[in-house]
Amino acid sequence: MSSIEQLFWHPVCDARQVQEDPLPVKLLDQSLVLWRNQNGVVCGLFDRCPHRGARLSLGRICQGQLQCAYHGWTFEGQGQCTRVPALPSFNPGQAQQAKAVAVQERMGLVWVCMDAARTAQAIWPTFAAEWNASMRKFNAGPYEVATSAPRVVENFLDMSHFSFVHDGWLGQAGHSEIPEIHLEESDTGFKVTNAQVWQPNTSALATQGGMVTYTYEVMHPYSAVLTKIPDAQSGVPPGYEESIIVLILPISPDSCRVWFRMAVADFDADVEELLAFQDKIFSQDKPVLESQLPRLLPLGAGVESNVASDKASVAYRRFLQKLAVTFGVC
Ligand code: FES
Ligand SMILES: [Fe+2]
Repeated sequence: MSSIEQLFWHPVCDARQVQEDPLPVKLLDQSLVLWRNQNGVVCGLFDRCPHRGARLSLGRICQGQLQCAYHGWTFEGQGQCTRVPALPSFNPGQAQQAKAVAVQERMGLVWVCMDAARTAQAIWPTFAAEWNASMRKFNAGPYEVATSAPRVVENFLDMSHFSFVHDGWLGQAGHSEIPEIHLEESDTGFKVTNAQVWQPNTSALATQGGMVTYTYEVMHPYSAVLTKIPDAQSGVPPGYEESIIVLILPISPDSCRVWFRMAVADFDADVEELLAFQDKIFSQDKPVLESQLPRLLPLGAGVESNVASDKASVAYRRFLQKLAVTFGVC
């Protein structure tokens, strides 16, 4: 049986973390094991041996295959058992097979779809700027956060906290009003276009405050893309814009790991400076995020109060409801 969350691709770790040794990771409350085979391809299995239930991640890699630490059953990347050392002439079959997940490397991260049989239907968070060669890409994070993935996405979509949580950075006391936003909903998600805010310090490249046009797009339960276009007044290079996609590993219903994939229209910018800016902004969000109760995002009417300036959050909650997402919500 598979839940809707298993039909999405989820980031699980930085690609460089997966070397030849078995690496345990947790996704959607399930334990998985990853390793890199002799061809450099990342393989992934549920972290449970079909023989006696031992953790496969305690094992070792022999010629690109994972050997269980308990009785040495050995598995190739699709889960096929190739060897039962106690019975050298035995030809292992389906009953000896470990359960595989689908794995891909993208955006410097390893991604897993748990429903390996249905990856053709599985959805990626898409990110138009990722394929734009005139933008420079890099990842900020990961950040460990003691809350649900949906609380993090909702915070990413929320502009009315800027003048409080990011006072002097993305907002300023006295500039709290959020103009009416334009929302377009479709079968696959929603978009917020042309949201205008005044920011004292829009990015690491800004030299002074200015108006910024924000666009948001959501098409994945645990991800959202933001595009920021600051006006020239803020001192950013001409034609500068940036896109940020929030990518989240839902570890348990109320804990997650967060990356921001950034694309900036400037190859001269100092990446360290841009990363430090992102770290600073997220360090302001994190204590508030971890204080929110319940940690699971409440979808039911009347549990939390929504006002007109929460339009994007309300659309996100509606989107999760429509998808019938159950992990990280209540
Ligand atoms: S439990 Fe893995 S080989 Fe026996
Ligand atoms: Fe924030």
